[in-house]
Amino acid sequence: MTTPWRQRFAQRTQRMTSSAIRELLKLTSLPDIISFAGGLPAPELFPVEEAREAADRLLRERGAQALQYSTTEGYPPLREMIVRHMARYGIKVEIDNILITTGSQEALDLIGKVLINPGDRILTETPSYLGAIQAFTMYGAEYETVPIDDDGLLTRELEQALRTGPKFIYVLPNFQNPAGVTLSLPRRREVVRLADRYGIPIVEDDPYGQLRFDGQHIKPIVVLDAELHNEHQNGHQYRGNVIYLSTFSKTLAPGLRLGWVTAPHEVILRMVQAKQGTDLHSSTFDQMLAYEIAKGGFIDRHVQRIREVYGRRRDVMLRALERAFPDPAMGVHWTRPHGGLFLWVTLPPSIDTSELLHEAVREKVAFVPGVCFHPDGSGHNTMRLNFSNAGEAMIEEGIARLGRAVVRRLEGQAAAVPVGARS
Ligand SMILES: Cc1ncc(COP(=O)(O)O)c(C=O)c1O
Repeated sequence: MTTPWRQRFAQRTQRMTSSAIRELLKLTSLPDIISFAGGLPAPELFPVEEAREAADRLLRERGAQALQYSTTEGYPPLREMIVRHMARYGIKVEIDNILITTGSQEALDLIGKVLINPGDRILTETPSYLGAIQAFTMYGAEYETVPIDDDGLLTRELEQALRTGPKFIYVLPNFQNPAGVTLSLPRRREVVRLADRYGIPIVEDDPYGQLRFDGQHIKPIVVLDAELHNEHQNGHQYRGNVIYLSTFSKTLAPGLRLGWVTAPHEVILRMVQAKQGTDLHSSTFDQMLAYEIAKGGFIDRHVQRIREVYGRRRDVMLRALERAFPDPAMGVHWTRPHGGLFLWVTLPPSIDTSELLHEAVREKVAFVPGVCFHPDGSGHNTMRLNFSNAGEAMIEEGIARLGRAVVRRLEGQAAAVPVGARS
């Protein structure tokens, strides 16, 4: 008798859905579609030659070590490098505050594993990162959401949300995925202050912080928290209220699958125990390789180059939007990110971007409908556009196509309104 698999799956899998949108997004990988849907870095910037040389050197000099099991916490020289990196960002931590993970996606899953009981409420921005919602939902999370504007999470609504007693706050401070907005310094301070007052931890997910094209660097939340809790600091050990996540996916290559967690040591210890059950440790080879590529200042020069290229692509997309999209007076708005990979378009409420996607795919261009990023199911008239992956000419052409689809939709709706009803 064959197993009736559906009856065997764990209850927690019941909330795993394969949405209609995901099916539609499969179309976006067709060869002649210009896709702004993915979140992919520009592959032509990957340090392929440096990786080849580093891999050669590594296998020649320490091949057996690179192919052996290693500790769950991660490769010590890589963790030391992260300690130095965090110090440049203004936070003094020790190696015991760092855990290497298989991308920051694994860190999100480990956070779910060690912190979330079924029914726990997680406070997120709306919209927020879909991958975090997927990871947390597996552990039975429910959501308390706070809207954002061009300066990030609306802190004036935060206190009310904190009164519902969420397990933690999940926040994306820099060039947020999906909306591209950045949490202002006063609001960061407010998040830290309120979280401290209500005793609620913060998960700060910061994959894009290093990819700033213009404007001033803003202190990470973990730094502001460390300043607030300065009196509790002992040596350089971080003992605060924040679990900070970042990644090498956007600064080296996502295929390495390497990220890290910075957190109080007791949190790191729990996550290490959880990670042992997940994958024992992140790939020794990949960690040593990343270290070999990054060391000696290469990563800084490389990040500079990524910033230049993405910054130009953002400018091209913004100019193309001005040309091809309806006037803001028609209720069309888009964000102007100072870094990262994405910008966010809001259309008039009468437009459903999941429906618009069908039309866009006929025009051979794709985006992600914004509803995917809203844990509360709102955002039907929004969309995320990625500007890192396509070249400048493709961006211009793709936005022209998308503009045609949007204008047609708006005109179609105007035509559908009886003449007497128009004002
Ligand atoms: C906000 C955010 N967090 C986490 C991740 C996961 O990144 P990775 O697992 O490649 O480090 C992403 C990927 O795009 C992201 O946008």
